[in-house]
Amino acid sequence: MNNEILINNQQMIVSQTDIKGKITYVNDIFCSIAGYHREEIIGKNHNIIRHPDMPKAVFKLLWDTLHAGKPIYAFVKNMAKNGDYYWVKAYVKPILNNGFVESYVSYRKPIDDFTKELLNGIYATLVEYEKNHTVEESFSLFLKYLKDRNLSYEQFINRLSTKKNVTNVDTSNIDLDKFHTDHILFKINIIDKVKRGAKVEVVDSCCCAFGKELERLKDKSFTSHPDWAKLVQYHKAVHAHMKDYVFKAQSGARQDELQSLLSTVESDTIEIFKSLNNVVDQSK
Ligand SMILES: Cc1cc2nc3c(=O)[nH]c(=O)nc-3n(C[C@H](O)[C@H](O)[C@H](O)COP(=O)(O)O)c2cc1C
Repeated sequence: MNNEILINNQQMIVSQTDIKGKITYVNDIFCSIAGYHREEIIGKNHNIIRHPDMPKAVFKLLWDTLHAGKPIYAFVKNMAKNGDYYWVKAYVKPILNNGFVESYVSYRKPIDDFTKELLNGIYATLVEYEKNHTVEESFSLFLKYLKDRNLSYEQFINRLSTKKNVTNVDTSNIDLDKFHTDHILFKINIIDKVKRGAKVEVVDSCCCAFGKELERLKDKSFTSHPDWAKLVQYHKAVHAHMKDYVFKAQSGARQDELQSLLSTVESDTIEIFKSLNNVVDQSK
């Protein structure tokens, strides 16, 4: 009771239902894993193996998609007859006859521990939410979870299938190291040119590669994080201080004054990437 049944990767669990979800066919592997004799299960509603840890919102999505005539992948925790459980990735699709849906079929394969772990968290949140919210509200919460990560449902399934964390696609694609290095080089390069008496032009914060990236991301939901505004300000300050540095160096300002500007630029650069790290971490 309540032990996990591990499924061999070579095994394919298959079942078929009528259009109402009544089981019309199960293969031998289905019977041996779910612990039912075929005659016990044929004619029963497929919810006979429903596990209480499964959110209603997932089945809503499954049925809405099937009713639209489309196939769907879903991660499902099922319950065997003796109360044990098993996780599957199911591919469920309508079977057509003369253009009309005649039945549905589901092919299921095992999933890895990484995916189970992540789904446990997400599904538990939804199940808890469903205790005092409607299935539609829970479904909206699930959609919001995906939207916050800038993922479609298909991308969510794909990321989990490839053992990737469901982090926010936009923030996880920001190359923090690259931008940090760029800004260190930006500073070194300017100091070097000033020392050589070469012509120096400091770009505004909106025009460097990082500034363009910030501009591109500014409508994303994770930019409401308070550290986002902070990092944008620090970034502006870095560019403004470097401009000031060039101007002052060329007008013969004292070394300690120049040094103090460069120290501010250095600490502001550290703050930019600290803040950005916080935003990335919390948008996961
Ligand atoms: C082909 C097919 C396969 C299904 N397989 C499962 C399954 O493995 N486990 C499950 O809990 N529900 C499965 N369902 C969904 C069930 O029909 C049902 O919607 C779900 O168990 C939730 O129960 P409820 O609708 O009574 O709330 C399947 C549906 C179809 C059409």
